[in-house]
Amino acid sequence: MERHNDIEIIEDGKVISRIVKGAHLDGIFPLLAPYGKIFVVHDSSVSPIAEKVSSYLEESFPAKFGGIVSIEATEKSKNIDTVLDICSFLLENKADRNSLVLGIGGGITTDMTGFAASVYKRGVHFAFIPTTLLSQVDAAIGGKTGVNFLHFKNMLGVIRQPDFTFLCPEPLETLSERDFVSGSAEMLKTFILDNGPEDNWYGQACSVLEKIHSHKDGISTYSKELLPLIFAAASVKAGVVSRDQFEKGERRLLNLGHTFAHAIEHLASNATEGKGITHGEAVAMGIVLAAELSSSLGISEAELPERLKEDFEKVGLPYECPFTLEAMKDAMSIDKKAEGNIIHFILPEKIGHALIKDLTVEEAIDLISKHTFDI
Ligand SMILES: NC(=O)c1ccc[n+]([C@@H]2O[C@H](COP(=O)([O-])OP(=O)(O)OC[C@H]3O[C@@H](n4cnc5c(N)ncnc54)[C@H](O)[C@@H]3O)[C@@H](O)[C@H]2O)c1
Repeated sequence: MERHNDIEIIEDGKVISRIVKGAHLDGIFPLLAPYGKIFVVHDSSVSPIAEKVSSYLEESFPAKFGGIVSIEATEKSKNIDTVLDICSFLLENKADRNSLVLGIGGGITTDMTGFAASVYKRGVHFAFIPTTLLSQVDAAIGGKTGVNFLHFKNMLGVIRQPDFTFLCPEPLETLSERDFVSGSAEMLKTFILDNGPEDNWYGQACSVLEKIHSHKDGISTYSKELLPLIFAAASVKAGVVSRDQFEKGERRLLNLGHTFAHAIEHLASNATEGKGITHGEAVAMGIVLAAELSSSLGISEAELPERLKEDFEKVGLPYECPFTLEAMKDAMSIDKKAEGNIIHFILPEKIGHALIKDLTVEEAIDLISKHTFDI
């Protein structure tokens, strides 16, 4: 079926994954037609959404409904045992190579569902309905799947693309405010990397996210404004993934703020102070540190760090790293992305453009402290 409004992820000239948008959940139903049985794997927090999809299948196409299973979506349960539970469910219910495994939930659920479907019978079809802002603009796009292992985050996994990811603002209506704001960081990160053809996605996103944050009158009020921005962020990521699926170069840009964020998350998990920092909050803090580094090197406009802080504050994102630069230096030295002593730092140049600069951890931290000292 030709689908003109979808975003496509292309490999060697072939479409390997699609991103489809819909104002409502029922937009997914036509996408399920080509498959044999459909197996729903969902986060227990989004049972009503999963049950809506399952009931439709049971009523309209009873022969297609393979079964439904819920999982707990926490970083602790994001492990190989949960993936094995999903595989057991698929095996017990006789999922085969024509089946589709549909993951419904945030990034934890889509990462684990994608991984289970990639190893079960050496790989079956899978697709996602991401239900957090973070997973809609980031985690459910690009094919990175996996689980945590022995205290290392996302240590086991594969890169394999979902057949499709269905983007719909409806599931976001039940998301907690903190989880929504956390996802805002990944959306803004994407537009700091690519501000769109008319240079305005970042500004539009700040304005809509600020309205949602300050008015508190529910996401549904802003769905019409939010969906095109979610789709735009997804299209930026899909474009990068099409050009560099296996992160040899350009895909690294998507890690803007993440080297710092991983260190902040690591320190927050060991500390009493700063405990409970979400991934998106850590990313916001990390983007500001990256901007300070960039400004210190004379790469970014001097005002960029302050502008980002103001924008993040308006949308409810914390931006001040609660740990000392010394503690950050130690934590970053064990970052898994460090190759030798060098880290690929992603430095924003201006809104809409960033570049990769290789530096040692010591060089980066010294430059940031110089920036902090200078202002
Ligand atoms: N594969 C990738 O490329 C990629 C990229 C970024 C992040 N990730 C991974 O994604 C995970 C974080 O994703 P996330 O922030 O979506 O987290 P998540 O899946 O933990 O969801 C956040 C919280 O929201 C709840 N929730 C989800 N949808 C809801 C809804 N609609 N209503 C109410 N509650 C809901 C969940 O139960 C959870 O408590 C991390 O494990 C990270 O490693 C993967």
